Amino acid sequence: MVSREAIRRRFGTRVPFLLLLSCMILLSYSQVLVSAAVVTLDSIEIFKTHEWLPSKPTVFFSCKGENDTVLPDVKEKHVLYTFKGEESWQPLTELQNIKCKRCGFYEKDAIKSDDVFDEWEFCASDFNSSDGKYVHFKEKEFNATFLCPECVPLANASEASSKGKDNTNMIHWAIIVVIVVAVSVVFVAGLVSGCKYWQKRKRQQQQARFLKLFEDADDIEDELGIGPLSHVV
Ligand SMILES: *[C@@H]1O[C@H](CO)[C@@H](O)[C@H](O)[C@H]1NC(C)=O
Ligand SMILES: *[C@@H]1O[C@H](CO)[C@@H](O)[C@H](O)[C@H]1NC(C)=O
Ligand SMILES: *[C@@H]1O[C@H](CO)[C@@H](O)[C@H](O)[C@H]1NC(C)=O
Ligand SMILES: *[C@@H]1O[C@H](CO)[C@@H](O)[C@H](O)[C@H]1NC(C)=O
Repeated sequence: MVSREAIRRRFGTRVPFLLLLSCMILLSYSQVLVSAAVVTLDSIEIFKTHEWLPSKPTVFFSCKGENDTVLPDVKEKHVLYTFKGEESWQPLTELQNIKCKRCGFYEKDAIKSDDVFDEWEFCASDFNSSDGKYVHFKEKEFNATFLCPECVPLANASEASSKGKDNTNMIHWAIIVVIVVAVSVVFVAGLVSGCKYWQKRKRQQQQARFLKLFEDADDIEDELGIGPLSHVV
């Protein structure tokens, strides 16, 4: 007889094992890049200002959801300002991983909303030259050079991952298929074994009822004093 205990012993240990395997696969595939890469402004030159009044502009850099960084020295057009990266307002921002940020250069406006020099997707993958520099140039607006040596390996990583994407996708799907098949096999095995157990139990119950019927028949025979009919069976 297949007891409940036996079923549990046969399949109970396999399910946690599958869960553990799935967790291990998930962990190994979430290659999290936790290191934050610091971005500094190396140089900037503005080609125009947006104010009508002849006052000095207030230029600032900002990424969506972050604080503004005012560039206190940048006041004149057509002057190349270079920085050491150690100024009080540096660094400009941090890039957490290969995910891009929406950032831009703006000019504070006294009356209406701030003027935009340019707003663009700021990505670690832009820092793809070995010196860790990235030039963002916008015609008639500005030319800025950013520095982020720590972004270079991230840029390489993103390039490598885009190259190996198809391969990774294939492996990903293969793993999903294997897990689904394994879970299905365990499920079906459990179902079959459960059915067998149920059938066996039903048969035993029927047998028991059958035997009880004969016992009852025997009792009746005894009561009526008829010959041993049960010997025929
Ligand atoms: C932004 O500025 C506020 C107030 O100056 C400060 O409390 C906060 O920490 C800053 N946030 C970031 C991300 O620098
Ligand atoms: C760096 O990125 C820019 C823009 O995405 C691209 O034009 C340039 O060819 C890249 N350079 C290298 C060395 O990959
Ligand atoms: C990373 O990128 C730099 C600059 O393009 C290149 O010189 C270097 O070989 C790359 N490293 C790897 C591991 O791809
Ligand atoms: C922008 O600035 C960089 C660094 O000063 C310079 O190498 C580059 O030629 C400039 N680009 C333009 C289009 O002015």
